[in-house]
Amino acid sequence: MSGHGTPIPMTSHRADPLTGIAEVPGDKSISHRSLILGALAVGETKISGLLEGEDVLDTAKAMQAMGAEVINHGGGNWSVHGVGVGGLAEPEQVIDCGNSGTGVRLIMGVMATSPITVTFTGDASLNKRPMARVTDPLALFGTQSVGRSGGRLPMTIVGAAEPTPVRYTVPVPSAQVKSAVLLAGLNAPGQTVVIEKEATRDHSERMLAGFGAEITVEDTDEGRVITLTGQPELKPQVIAVPRDPSSAAFPVCAALITPGSDVLVPRIGLNPTRAGLFYTLQDMGADLTFENMREEGGEPVADLRARYSPDMKGIDVPPERAASMIDEYPVLSVVASFATGKTMMTGVKELRVKESDRIDAMARGLRANGVMVEEGDDWWAVTGLGPEGVPGGGTCESFLDHRIAMSFMVMGMGAQKPVTVDDGTPIATSFPIFTQLMTTLGARLETTA
Ligand code: S3P
Repeated sequence: MSGHGTPIPMTSHRADPLTGIAEVPGDKSISHRSLILGALAVGETKISGLLEGEDVLDTAKAMQAMGAEVINHGGGNWSVHGVGVGGLAEPEQVIDCGNSGTGVRLIMGVMATSPITVTFTGDASLNKRPMARVTDPLALFGTQSVGRSGGRLPMTIVGAAEPTPVRYTVPVPSAQVKSAVLLAGLNAPGQTVVIEKEATRDHSERMLAGFGAEITVEDTDEGRVITLTGQPELKPQVIAVPRDPSSAAFPVCAALITPGSDVLVPRIGLNPTRAGLFYTLQDMGADLTFENMREEGGEPVADLRARYSPDMKGIDVPPERAASMIDEYPVLSVVASFATGKTMMTGVKELRVKESDRIDAMARGLRANGVMVEEGDDWWAVTGLGPEGVPGGGTCESFLDHRIAMSFMVMGMGAQKPVTVDDGTPIATSFPIFTQLMTTLGARLETTA
C-alpha cells in the first residue's frame, strides 16, 4: 500500500539519449480482473504476466480474504482456485484496497449480490474518492451501504441476499462503474443490462465472455447495450496478461522529448478502448510507429517505436477520444510542453476524480517548471515551449498519484534543469520497475532517502 510510508523525493536530471528495449509490466486493468474472475470460477485459473504492483497485490489479498486460494508461483505466474459465482466468504477483517479505485469498485460489485458484509478502506487518496457512483447502482440490486460523508471510504457494504437484476445507464464514462454493475449482475438471477453512452475500456466484457458467461454487446441509438445473464458457472482460464499501454506511455513519451532517443516498446495492446494516446501523439507529429502489428489473445498488439520528435505541434485533442486515453492525459501534457503551440484537452472532467485531481496536480507542477497552463472544470490547455524550450527546475507534489509522479520524471528527462517530485513512492502502485527500466534506457533518476 502506498501513502502509508515516508515520502521519498525523486529527481529526474536531463537524460542521455534514451535507447533500447522497454519491457513494461502487465496491464493493470486486466490483472485486477484476472484475479477477481479467477476467484469466481470453479477450478484453477492460471495467470502469467500479472502486474505485481501494489494495487493488484491488494486485490489478490482481498480475494484470498474472501475465500479464494491465490498462489504466487514467482516470475509473474499466479494461480487462483475460485469459489464459484455466489461463493465468496465474508472476510474477517477490513479490506484495504490501498490506492486502487479499480480494486475497491470492482470488489464492491462482486460482493454486492452475496449475503456477506464487507468493510472497505484505502489510503488517503482513495478515501477521498467518490464511491456513490458505484453504490447508487448497487442499491438497485438490493445492496446496502454506509460510508463517510460524500459517499467516501471507509465504507461497509451489505450484500443483497435476494438480489434482483437491474437495467442501468452509466451516467459518467467509467469502466469501473460499468464493471461493478456487471460483476454484481453475475450473482443476480435473470438479465442485468448496462448501457454506456460512451465506450470505455471493454476488458470486463471480453473476459466475462472468455470465462464462459453469457454476455452480448449491441451498439444502439441509446449507446452500447451490454446484457449479461446471471448465475453462470464460470470456467477457469489460462490468461497471459498483455503489457500495459498506460505504462508504455511513459517510455514512449520520454523518447519523444529526449534528444537522440530511439526506444522500442514491444508487445503493447492497441485495443481501441485504450490506445487513444498513441493516435494523439501521431496527430501531433510524433515519430511513433506501430511495428509488427498482429493479434494476440483476440487483441491487436504491436511493438511501438518512438524516436526523438523535435517537430511536434500542439493540437485540439478530440473529446470523443477521452475515454480511450483517460489515464494518459498527465504524460500527454508533458509532451505538449515540448511541442510548438497550444494543446487543448476538452471533455476531461473525470480527470478531477482520479488518484488525485489530475488537472490541478499537473497544472501546478507544469507551472512550477515554467510552462503555461489554462484550465476550466472539464478542460485544460498547455502552451508548448518547443523542443529544448522547457526550463524545468521545479519541485512538484505527486499527491499520492503514480501517474503524476512518473509524468514529472519524464519531464525532467527533456527539460533544461532537473525536475523533482516530493514523493516517488506511489509509482510502485502500477509500475514497480519504472526507475530500473528508465535508467537502463538512459534516464538519470535520483531518489533522496
Ligand atoms: C479502469 C478504469 C478507469 C481508469 C483506471 C482503470 C479500469 O477508471 O482510469 O485506471 O480498470 O476499469 P474510471 O472507471 O474511473 O474511468
